[in-house]
Amino acid sequence: MDSDIAEILIPAAKLKARVRSLGRRIAKDYEGRDLHLITVMKGGLFFLTDLARTIERPLSLDCLGISSYGGQAQGTVRITKDLDDSIEGRNVLIVEDIIDTGLTLAYIRRNLLVRQPASLTICTLLDRPYRRIVDIDVAYVGFTIPDAFVVGYGLDWKGQYRNLPYIATLNPEVYRRG
Ligand code: IMP
Ligand code: MG
Repeated sequence: MDSDIAEILIPAAKLKARVRSLGRRIAKDYEGRDLHLITVMKGGLFFLTDLARTIERPLSLDCLGISSYGGQAQGTVRITKDLDDSIEGRNVLIVEDIIDTGLTLAYIRRNLLVRQPASLTICTLLDRPYRRIVDIDVAYVGFTIPDAFVVGYGLDWKGQYRNLPYIATLNPEVYRRG
C-alpha cells in the first residue's frame, strides 16, 4: 500500500491540529445553541469522529448515506441511508470530507432544508475549488487543496485507502490497474 502513495499532502499531525482548531471554533460559535452534527458516509466518518471529540460541549450526531453518480448523471445523488432522527428546529452542521463540484452538498442541503432545521451550516475538511459548478456557502474549511484526486482519512479510491491517517495522492499506476 505504501508504494501506491505518490505524495503526502497533509500529514496526520497537521490534520489533528487543524481539526482541533475547527472544533474549538465550532464550540464557540454554537455557544447557547444545540448542535447536531450530520456526516455524509462514508467519506466524512473519520473527520466526524475526530472533530466531535474536539468540540467540548454537548452535541448529538447522525449519519446520512449517499451514493453519487459521475458522467452524464453527475450531480445525481441517491440517499442510501436516511437520517435516524428528525432535524426540525435543530441547529445542523453538515460534516463533509471534500467539496469538489459542490453538486453533492447542494443536493444534501436542499434535501435537509425541506426538513426545516433551525439552521444549516457546512463544515468540510477539504475544499478543492477548481471544478466548482454550484456555489456553496461553506462556513468551516479545514484545508484548500491542489487540483488532484486525494485519498486517506476517510477518502477512498474504489473503496480503498480510507484508513490512511493522512491525505495523499496516488501513483498513476494505481489508476491504470483499474
Ligand atoms: P462533488 O459533488 O463534486 O462536490 O463531490 C463530492 C464528493 O465526491 C465527495 O463527498 C467525495 O465523496 C467524492 N470525492 C470528490 N473528490 C474526491 C477525491 O479527491 N477523493 C475521494 N473522493 C472524492
Ligand atoms: Mg463525501
